[in-house]
Amino acid sequence: MPSYPRPGSRLLSLLPLLPLAPLAAPLAVLAVGAFVLSGCGAGGGLSAEQGQRKVAGRVFVVTGASSGLGRGVAVKLGGYGASVVLAARRGAVLEEVAAEVRAAGGQALVVVTDVSDPEAVRRLAEEAVERFGRIDVWVNNAGIGVIGRFEDVPVQDHVRVVDVNLKGVIYGSHAALRQFRVQGHGVLVNVGSVESRLPLPYQASYAATKHAILGLGNALRQELRLAGQTRIQVATVMPWGIDTPWWEVAGNYSGHSPRVRPMDGPEDTVDAVIHAAIWPRREVPVGWKTEGSLLAHQVMPVLVERMGADAYHGNVVSGPPAPDRVGAIYEPMEGVPTGVEGGVRARMAREDAGR
Ligand SMILES: NC(=O)c1ccc[n+]([C@@H]2O[C@H](COP(=O)([O-])OP(=O)(O)OC[C@H]3O[C@@H](n4cnc5c(N)ncnc54)[C@H](OP(=O)(O)O)[C@@H]3O)[C@@H](O)[C@H]2O)c1
Repeated sequence: MPSYPRPGSRLLSLLPLLPLAPLAAPLAVLAVGAFVLSGCGAGGGLSAEQGQRKVAGRVFVVTGASSGLGRGVAVKLGGYGASVVLAARRGAVLEEVAAEVRAAGGQALVVVTDVSDPEAVRRLAEEAVERFGRIDVWVNNAGIGVIGRFEDVPVQDHVRVVDVNLKGVIYGSHAALRQFRVQGHGVLVNVGSVESRLPLPYQASYAATKHAILGLGNALRQELRLAGQTRIQVATVMPWGIDTPWWEVAGNYSGHSPRVRPMDGPEDTVDAVIHAAIWPRREVPVGWKTEGSLLAHQVMPVLVERMGADAYHGNVVSGPPAPDRVGAIYEPMEGVPTGVEGGVRARMAREDAGR
């Protein structure tokens, strides 16, 4: 198992930054103020009436729809009467999701897709248009991660994270924008992370890809503005750590069971993605922790990166020992949760109770 310094010794390294402590209170006030003024960050859930009015009959492509956030978004959209094209690698699980979407009142089409394959992503767009005639919203949500010290993670696993999280989003954005140009309208929603701005240690390639897709989205926004395409919009949603199966299928070379605290439930992020599809904004941080930490990061990047890194380091080393695993980054894993929620908070509580 890789050995990591204990968190206590890391805290000492913050001592030179103590003179900045008086800034903490004003910053906190600023963060809360910005959060309140921004209408509570990501925007809340839609009422059933609002959902029906804004979403019914619209066509959504959702990648990574077989579990977690993507599954939650797909089923909720079904409840609002949307037509949802479900993409991921596990066809049988997608068929379950499709049944839930239909039971909720929507229409569903399953297209088994590995987003790291550009040809498969092109076919996904083609099948969506063939079946529903257009694509109103494309959600690039599929994503994977690998946890561990950079040099302990096999280099090909870092490359795979780039293939899925960055190249997959490029392929999806390309297919979506080509179709949006033909139609003259559309919304592209990319799922980033708080790590699109605030990088964490032991997730270096993940943080790199989430930074990259924020840059991609913001560059595309400018291209569209320059082209006068006011009816084609791009938003990047930036969630905090959420309780989804992600933590149970991530590659892990940290020597410890993956965890982070505090961890949000998936519901607010599901709502934020749907909200962003209807009212797209450049960046959509989800929840007060993301909003506050990103604001503080803009003011004091070094301090906030150190604090975030120390906190996450403390999380990593507090997990019980775990063997290395490749996770589901190349092929889906058997016997892992496929729900919207991943049961990670319950697992962490069990692990802690058992010690
Ligand atoms: N959970 C968090 O703490 C957190 C925080 C911030 C951001 N996010 C982001 O949120 C997004 C959704 O993740 P989640 O938390 O909902 O995790 P999740 O439950 O593991 O969902 C990931 C989805 O991506 C699919 N997927 C993985 N590799 C794929 C590939 N090569 N091609 C197509 N689909 C693939 C998975 O399905 P198959 O295995 O069936 O392909 C699954 O449907 C990701 O972009 C993630 O980075 C998560």
